[in-house]
Amino acid sequence: MTKQIINREQQASYAFCVGGIRVLGDLALAPMDGYTISPFRLIARRLGAALVYTEFINAIDVVQRAPSLADRIKFCEEERPVVFQIYDDNPERLLKAAQILEGYAPDWIDVNLGCPSRSVVHRGAGAALLQSPAKIAQIFERLTTALSIPVSAKMRIGWDEHNLNYLEVAKIIEDCGGAMLAVHARSKTQSYSGNASWDAIAQVKQSVSIPVIGNGDVRTVQDIEALKSYTGCDAVMIGRAALKNPWIFSLRNRSEVPPEELYHAIVWQLQAMVELYGEQRGVVLFRKYLKGYLSPCSLPREYMLDILTTQNLSELFRLLENYFQKPAVFA
Ligand SMILES: Cc1cc2nc3c(=O)[nH]c(=O)nc-3n(C[C@H](O)[C@H](O)[C@H](O)COP(=O)(O)O)c2cc1C
Repeated sequence: MTKQIINREQQASYAFCVGGIRVLGDLALAPMDGYTISPFRLIARRLGAALVYTEFINAIDVVQRAPSLADRIKFCEEERPVVFQIYDDNPERLLKAAQILEGYAPDWIDVNLGCPSRSVVHRGAGAALLQSPAKIAQIFERLTTALSIPVSAKMRIGWDEHNLNYLEVAKIIEDCGGAMLAVHARSKTQSYSGNASWDAIAQVKQSVSIPVIGNGDVRTVQDIEALKSYTGCDAVMIGRAALKNPWIFSLRNRSEVPPEELYHAIVWQLQAMVELYGEQRGVVLFRKYLKGYLSPCSLPREYMLDILTTQNLSELFRLLENYFQKPAVFA
């Protein structure tokens, strides 16, 4: 894996600063619940992402020290800069959670102002906070005053097409000490449908002086440059496309990735997940990544089914070796 890395950090002068932290490059891995765990973040970093986020973390779980918390906040030094993302509707609890999380030494903390899922918005968190700008101000005032690390936000552009208050929210975040802003350019009600409004990202970039990361609908290497030049944003955040093609962070489309490299990445991540979660859970959790990685390969249906249903690590290796015609690397 390491040999195949294109180290964009060595090529890039720093792209932007968050608080005092220099980010060496202009590509970020988006936070994705169920996906942006430590091994996947590490792959993204090694392939050239300059910045990675954890999955979102429920402030209630932090305050109550839920057993699930340990997996969410586990990271290794090589991932840095790594951002912990939290969500909640309650400013006091968010502050308490952020203070606890600061103790685990992330590079900074991000507040989720974009999650559209029912369970999150029903309690007034995620994208629902966009409907309460005064609460956003309270949250950022408290967190930026109390924490000694930077605080950023990842926001959508509004609740629905009639309530696109992104410029108001962006200004509040900046005025209340927010150090950076990532904009997923869709409204809450759009969820993941329709197109992201790159015009909105351009307007946010023009209206604040903190760094702005543009996000939404970057599917190819060509889209990265297109988003940057269209909006003038400081960096580009990539989510879904990275699940099928983390090589996008090395500026390579999936068709440019040789099978050898794909195989090495698969084996490396599978082994890392087995180390993290144990054999059975690691194999099962790896399936969704494997499905994405292999989707462009047009494997026979039955073969794919075998690969995606086995719970046995040796069997999975055997199937993969068979497909890639490789000797066992880890067995
Ligand atoms: C499976 C999945 C999980 C996500 N989880 C989070 C999350 O935990 N926090 C967050 O801010 N956004 C989350 N998002 C939104 C992404 O970070 C990103 O904003 C969105 O996918 C748009 O970017 P894309 O077009 O590059 O995928 C999630 C998206 C997906 C598809």
